[in-house]
Amino acid sequence: MKILVINGPNLARLDIRDSSIYGDFTYPQLVKFIEDGATKCGFMADVRQSDEEAQIIGWLHEAADAKIPVIINPAAFTHYSYAIRDAADLVKSPLIEVHLSNPMAREEFRHTSVISGIATGTIGGFGPNSYILALEAMKSLVNK
Ligand code: DQA
Repeated sequence: MKILVINGPNLARLDIRDSSIYGDFTYPQLVKFIEDGATKCGFMADVRQSDEEAQIIGWLHEAADAKIPVIINPAAFTHYSYAIRDAADLVKSPLIEVHLSNPMAREEFRHTSVISGIATGTIGGFGPNSYILALEAMKSLVNK
């Protein structure tokens, strides 16, 4: 089964982001880690990244039309993009929000997620393992 994994702005630059917050995987390493984890869970992961809101909205429309489950790390868009929230709400397959860090343990502006309210669930704070936990959760959701 196909699964769409969407990563938002600045995640492709993990190489220069604060490794004490985001860990020491580069983005290509993260993609490989997600792809391998997906295979183990029986998924074929299509892992994409964009710094642009409109592009992410288009991908969510694509997932909604094709009825594909979604794992999304909306990055900073998490905290204020109502447009991404509305697009994510169109996805009727399970949609899991993930974060590498634990936004609730960081600056106050990160304590709000406009995505969580429409997500099936949210996983954050486990570094790259957040994606693996999301894949495992997704596996049990789609096998129900
Ligand atoms: C993030 C957390 C967000 O607050 C931040 O803007 C990101 C990454 C995470 O994965 O921990 O870019 O989504």
